[in-house]
Amino acid sequence: PALQRLVVVSNRLPVALKREEDGWKLKQGSGGLVTAMAPVLRNRGGMWIGWSGAAEPEEGAGGGTVGGTDMETLFADFTEEAGYELCTVPLTEEEVDGYYYGFSNEIVWPLFHDLQSRCRFHPRYWRTYLDVNFKFAEVVARRSSPEDYIWIQDYHLMHQAFFLKSMGVRRNTGFFLHIPFPPPDIFMKLPWRAKLIQALTEFDLVGFQTVQDRRNFVGSLHRLMPEARVEGRGAVVTVHMGNRSFRAGAFPISIDYTQFSEMAARPEVVQKTVDLKEALRHRKIILGVDRLDYTKGIPERIRSIQTLLRRYPDLQGTVNFIQIAVPSREEVGEYKELRTEIERLVGRVNGEFSFPGWVPVHYHYRSLPHDDLVAYYAAADVGLVTPLRDGMNLVAKEYCACNNKGDGVLVLSEFAGAAAQLQRHAYLVNPYDVEGIAKALHRALHWPLEERKAHMSRLREQIRRNNIFRWVDSFLRAGIAKSLED
Ligand code: UDP
Ligand code: G6P
Repeated sequence: PALQRLVVVSNRLPVALKREEDGWKLKQGSGGLVTAMAPVLRNRGGMWIGWSGAAEPEEGAGGGTVGGTDMETLFADFTEEAGYELCTVPLTEEEVDGYYYGFSNEIVWPLFHDLQSRCRFHPRYWRTYLDVNFKFAEVVARRSSPEDYIWIQDYHLMHQAFFLKSMGVRRNTGFFLHIPFPPPDIFMKLPWRAKLIQALTEFDLVGFQTVQDRRNFVGSLHRLMPEARVEGRGAVVTVHMGNRSFRAGAFPISIDYTQFSEMAARPEVVQKTVDLKEALRHRKIILGVDRLDYTKGIPERIRSIQTLLRRYPDLQGTVNFIQIAVPSREEVGEYKELRTEIERLVGRVNGEFSFPGWVPVHYHYRSLPHDDLVAYYAAADVGLVTPLRDGMNLVAKEYCACNNKGDGVLVLSEFAGAAAQLQRHAYLVNPYDVEGIAKALHRALHWPLEERKAHMSRLREQIRRNNIFRWVDSFLRAGIAKSLED
């Protein structure tokens, strides 16, 4: 069937408004959702609805004008270049605080990553989350038509189908959760668990990163809505709820493999890669790239570097660990504390081992332009990806896609969604096991070239085949098949 117009809805747009000295500018957003979805819309066209990324003093203040700059002009320029429309949902400071910082980042994010002790279950957060979801749904209703496919992204907007239906707006809706879905025992801690899971059942299709996430969801559904009957056992199942049904499936997200691989091969990027290696005097490079987030296991990773250098003193002076930490959610207390902890640890390790001409840990707290990032990936001998828990982790896939020489090693947390796909050819580690990571690194640094090449080529082939375009096709196929059934 011909695809209707695609309307993607997420908390963040692919670009965020940032104030600079000479006025407001559009900046590329960071994080896996934007990396994955931006090529999808460029490829298919359509509309992306989301928050501008900046709180507005008052709802609708200035009629789309932020700080004297016409937002519409910035977005029109973007549409012309990217080939799809952007539509912003303005949010007040209070809304951003309760819905984004509060409910999304202090409740759902930690809980769904199995870190319930970091949750703050404030009832105010829940109320604001519902209000903002209602506001988003009004925009979706107004800006879309019944022929469109409405594709909601991630945990900020789990009530979209629920509110669209309550307004009497009929749309074909799909939802994709970019983060893990926790096991039932953890999900049950959420004070609003029944309402939240019921809201998810209102979508026509609910997608998860892994089969395990889908199972966790179905497990909680059975506990909270015993009338649910599940049919099928493959990647996508049908759930019957009385007189209606919806689908739930596993759709592991990916990247635009070719874009990363080709970028790494561009002469100017190759030059950057060479410069970087020279600057580090051709020592081995271990690389970590993450948003600065407590789910990413960065402190444990730095400790594992310390253990590596203590345990294997012959490595001192021969290897560098580079950690790129992209600033994220800086207004949340937990993130501020984490930054301090990481900086202290980096200082400690460097203090313990540095000597004139060699500093073991290079720590960058900033976001990188794309070609710099790709050059780092291409230069690294080991990609060290050790989240405590992660929905997928696209950095792992990007590292492999950029490793055109094919001689790198991916050391990967067994608790990243990506491990389900890459486990046979990545070096799997327990991210809490500092000594285990150190051992894995030692082995990775001494692995014979032939073995490294064999494993890396399988990893690259896996990611090249299961790329982001294949992911979209399989999701939309399941979503549209459901709508034809109804
Ligand atoms: N990334 C970024 N800016 C940077 C460095 C990295 O936007 O300076 C991107 C990176 O390329 C990757 C994403 O951030 O696509 C991180 O996605 P991942 O799935 O690994 O984790 P998430 O941040 O979504 O939790
Ligand atoms: C993860 C989430 C995304 C989110 C991104 C960046 O990838 O799954 O929904 O956009 O992190 O976080 P932020 O809070 O800055 O949007």
